[in-house]
Amino acid sequence: MTRRDFINQTSASYASLLAWGLLQPAPASALSLPANGRTSDGKGRKVVVLGAGLAGMAAAYELGKLGYECTVLEARGRSGGRVWTVRGGTAETELGGGTPQSCQFEEGLYFNGGAARIPHHHQLTLQYCRELGVPLQIFNGNNEAAYLYNDGGTGPLANRRLRIKEYHNDMRGYTAELLAKSLDQSALDQQLTKEDIEKLVDFLKNEGDLNTAHLYKGTNRRGYKSSREPGAGQSPGEMTDPFGLTDLLRSGFNQPVFYNVGDYIYEQQTTLLQPVGGMDAIPKALEKKLAGKIVFNAPVTELRKTESGVRVVYQRNGKPAELTAEFCVCTLPLPMLKNLESDLSGTVKRAADFVPYIKTGKIGLQFKRRFWEEDDWIYGGISRTNMDINQIWYPSFGFQGRKGVLIGYYNFYSRAEAVGAMSVAEREKLALAQGGKIHPQYPAEFENSFSLAWHRLPYSAGGWATYDDATRRKYYPALLEPDGNIYFAGEHTTYLTAWMAGAFTSARRTVEAIAARVG
Ligand code: ALA
Repeated sequence: MTRRDFINQTSASYASLLAWGLLQPAPASALSLPANGRTSDGKGRKVVVLGAGLAGMAAAYELGKLGYECTVLEARGRSGGRVWTVRGGTAETELGGGTPQSCQFEEGLYFNGGAARIPHHHQLTLQYCRELGVPLQIFNGNNEAAYLYNDGGTGPLANRRLRIKEYHNDMRGYTAELLAKSLDQSALDQQLTKEDIEKLVDFLKNEGDLNTAHLYKGTNRRGYKSSREPGAGQSPGEMTDPFGLTDLLRSGFNQPVFYNVGDYIYEQQTTLLQPVGGMDAIPKALEKKLAGKIVFNAPVTELRKTESGVRVVYQRNGKPAELTAEFCVCTLPLPMLKNLESDLSGTVKRAADFVPYIKTGKIGLQFKRRFWEEDDWIYGGISRTNMDINQIWYPSFGFQGRKGVLIGYYNFYSRAEAVGAMSVAEREKLALAQGGKIHPQYPAEFENSFSLAWHRLPYSAGGWATYDDATRRKYYPALLEPDGNIYFAGEHTTYLTAWMAGAFTSARRTVEAIAARVG
């Protein structure tokens, strides 16, 4: 691909321009490690890194810059850990008697089974993409054209799909109208001057698209009637009618699954990004930097403290093998650490035992045609429902292509547990039946699927660490200190749990700590 092709295909996002060196990047010094000044500190010192996910590889990469000799032990036959792109040929068998799956997606189609979006403020992740030459494109998370579907409710708007833009604009309109009315009657805060109130009402008029009488009578923001879009000649367009306020309120959309996260949640606000070609472009680029340093298919079975550092036992071609080093950077997810034979301290073991990990799952569905684009005008973004499928993600790449893969469910906690417990065939059936309520095109267009439940995936056994105040207080501190010469890294050792940025920042924290200790 030439630069020009790339820019045309990706609509030249800021980040992609940066990645191709067409814009001046922010000074790298802003994100460089203080330890980087001291390049000879690590010479001759050995570090064993457990896990070739982002935390382990970033730690080995940064330690390598300082002269340390790192060996990364990786249980799987691939790098990336929970950064995993599923495409044709991807094979996996889940724990607990899972059916072996081999992905049948057509060439060029894929979905990100784990990490799938990069918030614009995760500058460290973006810095690594820049440094590693990983080109980015927009991830469209927030799409007002996607649907809401409240299943099994009783209101007039339950058991049918509505566009997110219809719901949002109607609710904004009515609440703005109500507030404007009460302000008109000076019913609110007496501290507001007449001028303040005028300004506030003006804001509400704009926010809710109220008419001059401050009433909400619908808005073209919620779209036009089908075949009545504005056009040439005498075609000004015909707006859709708003739903009634009580119909909206009585149709079940006050459930958390329907919250307007796309606009309001810090991590999900526009702009979000993703690597071109799949999230695994990031681990693959890191892997290249660590050529010869990663031992694959090498699950760790023992972690021991010794006089001079650490001793690690791992499996190699079915036989135990051993490695000694001065330091260990352990990035194993806690559900894996929990079952490891080790000399770890009681506080670390308790953290491994008691920090909960989320249950979460996804399914990729390949369809013969991109009906969500062709029929529904949905390009990326997420539909939301209270059914077990929870969310449908439309791909933010390959627009207007022939076939496509969408994420037919992305669910959490009890929904993920129930669906994850099903056979692969049952999951597919459920995804098609529930998703088919939102997209009646499903049965005619479906081709094949690949599903995963992170809590059942070997060497992960969970989605991500989920702390509350009590577990933060009780267990988290033990993971921040070295246990002898063993250091911990991974999203579970940060306040950026569930994000690649957590893995990266934890790696750098650990590298700083080792460098400071060595002096
Ligand atoms: N960071 C995860 C996501 O984006 C939780 O869904």
